Amino acid sequence: MTKEIILTGITTTGTPHLGNYVGAIKPAIAASKNPNVMPFYFLADYHALIKCQEPERVRRSSLEIAATWLALGLDTSNAVFYRQSDVPEIMELMWMLTCVASKGLMNRAHAYKAATAENDQSGENDFDKGINMGLFAYPILMAADILMFNAHKVPVGKDQIQHIEMARDIAGRFNHIYGEHFVLPEAVIDEHGATLSGMDGRKMSKSYNNTIPLFEPEKKLKKLINKIQTNSLEPGQAKDPDTCTLFSIYRAFASSDEVLDIRQRYAEGIAWGEMKSVLFEHINEHITPARERYEALLQAPEHIEEQLQEGALKARAVSVPFMKELRKAVGISRISL
Ligand code: TRP
Repeated sequence: MTKEIILTGITTTGTPHLGNYVGAIKPAIAASKNPNVMPFYFLADYHALIKCQEPERVRRSSLEIAATWLALGLDTSNAVFYRQSDVPEIMELMWMLTCVASKGLMNRAHAYKAATAENDQSGENDFDKGINMGLFAYPILMAADILMFNAHKVPVGKDQIQHIEMARDIAGRFNHIYGEHFVLPEAVIDEHGATLSGMDGRKMSKSYNNTIPLFEPEKKLKKLINKIQTNSLEPGQAKDPDTCTLFSIYRAFASSDEVLDIRQRYAEGIAWGEMKSVLFEHINEHITPARERYEALLQAPEHIEEQLQEGALKARAVSVPFMKELRKAVGISRISL
């Protein structure tokens, strides 16, 4: 039986937070243990350069993200876990795809459109001010990531659906011109990702600056949880769990019995201070073993590097021969042996 290929990338610009864990990392690690699936998970470090020109930050983020996935038990004997930049064929493919992707399609990409709209709103004459070509071509790089390994399924957040559609479009054009080389990928949306709230009640996201880092040391985790915004209801007054940030985070880490129990306590008017300590204890207990492995991995970066190198070897066992085929398909090959 041929395995289903699932592929996803993580841009290396930040520290993994609870929202990343619940929405993306946890389900991806669960999938890495499924023998019918062949997962490709990678650090999208070339994507990082689009929005982050701080080398130290990109370097640190790559280390933290890799350590996080390994600490949480990614099965690297099944999953191919690698760094995008270790697979140069992806960059080569990007150019081939750039030459079949229509510019008009890229003009319609949300990230690019949002950037030009911002310039427009601030009264700027040049809508493209401050926008680099990396941002404009971002969907093509992402298409190259996906098509390089002929992924069937791509688990992503809702904001990335358009990019998967663009990858399909570009793959279809390439296939039409040069013959069937690429699988048309499909997006897989995980609903939990969008529902975990951050400190201020909005979706937990790097861009809102409201995140709780996953492996924050115990004391800091406690402090951050204490800062989560709540309403002003007094102890003893019934509270609504479904509009409460504390509850939304708790639920992501709890069994259905535990959730029922906490719902009951909201109805009985649990004090916010009490709920915060319940939440802290719960998350802390859940995370402590992985946090210990994470700390140990950060002390042994050579072990992380070794895993990534192994991953790159496995990835290139696919990408090198495939690139040979693609070069031939487009007419780039030696004149004679
Ligand atoms: N752009 C994605 C994000 O910001 C990360 C990413 C890069 C990705 N390449 C990918 C996701 C390929 C899925 C497939 O979330």
